[in-house]
Amino acid sequence: MPNAKSHAILLIMKKTILSGSTVTGDLTLGNYIGAIHNWKQMQNDYDCLYFLADLHALTVTQDPKILKNRIYSFFAQYLALGLDPQQNTIFVQSQIHEHAELNWILTCLTPMGYLNRMTQFKEKSEKNVKNINAGLYTYPVLMAADILLYQADLVPVGEDQRQHLELARDIVGFFDRAHAPGVLKMPEAFIPKSGARIMSLQDPTKKMSKSDDNEKNFVSIIDDPKKIEKKIKSAATDSDTVIKYNLENKPGLSNLLTIYSVLSGKTVAQIEADYAGKMYGHLKVDLAALVVETLAPVQLKYHDLMKNQDHLEMLMKQGAEKAKVRAAKTLKSVYDAVGLVRV
Ligand code: TYM
Repeated sequence: MPNAKSHAILLIMKKTILSGSTVTGDLTLGNYIGAIHNWKQMQNDYDCLYFLADLHALTVTQDPKILKNRIYSFFAQYLALGLDPQQNTIFVQSQIHEHAELNWILTCLTPMGYLNRMTQFKEKSEKNVKNINAGLYTYPVLMAADILLYQADLVPVGEDQRQHLELARDIVGFFDRAHAPGVLKMPEAFIPKSGARIMSLQDPTKKMSKSDDNEKNFVSIIDDPKKIEKKIKSAATDSDTVIKYNLENKPGLSNLLTIYSVLSGKTVAQIEADYAGKMYGHLKVDLAALVVETLAPVQLKYHDLMKNQDHLEMLMKQGAEKAKVRAAKTLKSVYDAVGLVRV
């Protein structure tokens, strides 16, 4: 058994992991497979911080009442998916004001040309033509602040966040050159080999998104079993009958095979062999059952956690206290390096 001192040394030696999800909709199979599945696996070997990006959610119009409920719900979804609040630091972004403060320092260092290149800004502004606000534009800088505030070594994310991670690395370079090197740690993206981009069920050429207007496009982790079955059985596939992974010609089927592979732990080749001579319908029925079975304990735990808001608040508070110590330390070094006077 490690004593308190050796436990502290072990923690110092462990690499720091940080990741989060924006509080919109409910977490989907895409979020689970592309990100949270990995977060869960990392919690034993790393010093992990996982947070709810509620400030990021404000780039689209939010109903205050719905947002508030969703923050509790997301927190419960994280825990229900297996993130342990004792082992990790799990917290809510807006409860640590240092995120917004570091965001400002970094915003003043980030050239607009870099933000103009962000593909998510282009996609999101096309979707939100009536509300193309400055927050949507500077969103990746806040994301860099989230990461750099905790001196993260690795950031486990899906493929769609790769460009934002590259920007966070560029921003470390801007800070080093403008102020002092070594104050902010250079983070690295950790993107899974399989499942980094789970696609929409009805349109497998675009990614599965929790903020999609058409709910047939995604499976939320708290969808009831009937809904899950219906959504998976009606997933768009091609008119061929051979169950074979082919991203270009069979994107819908390939997406289902990826989901099956990550959830079952089998390789795609194994699954293809199991379904040789069978129809797409067989695969869909079995996949729906696998998803329902995987999510059943998650949903049970989720509904249980949602019954006790005080308990969730207590855990949020504990997470915020742990996160705050680290965030304040980095912000102090940043303010010193920038030349701000603190009294
Ligand atoms: P968000 O909420 O869109 O997604 C959370 C995580 O899920 C991954 N993901 C997917 N992976 C595979 N297939 C999909 N269809 C899919 N959809 C989403 C995302 O890549 C992400 O890892 N900006 C971030 C939240 C954020 C953040 C951060 C993440 C804010 N600050 C700092 C890491 C570090 C976002 O909106 O993720």
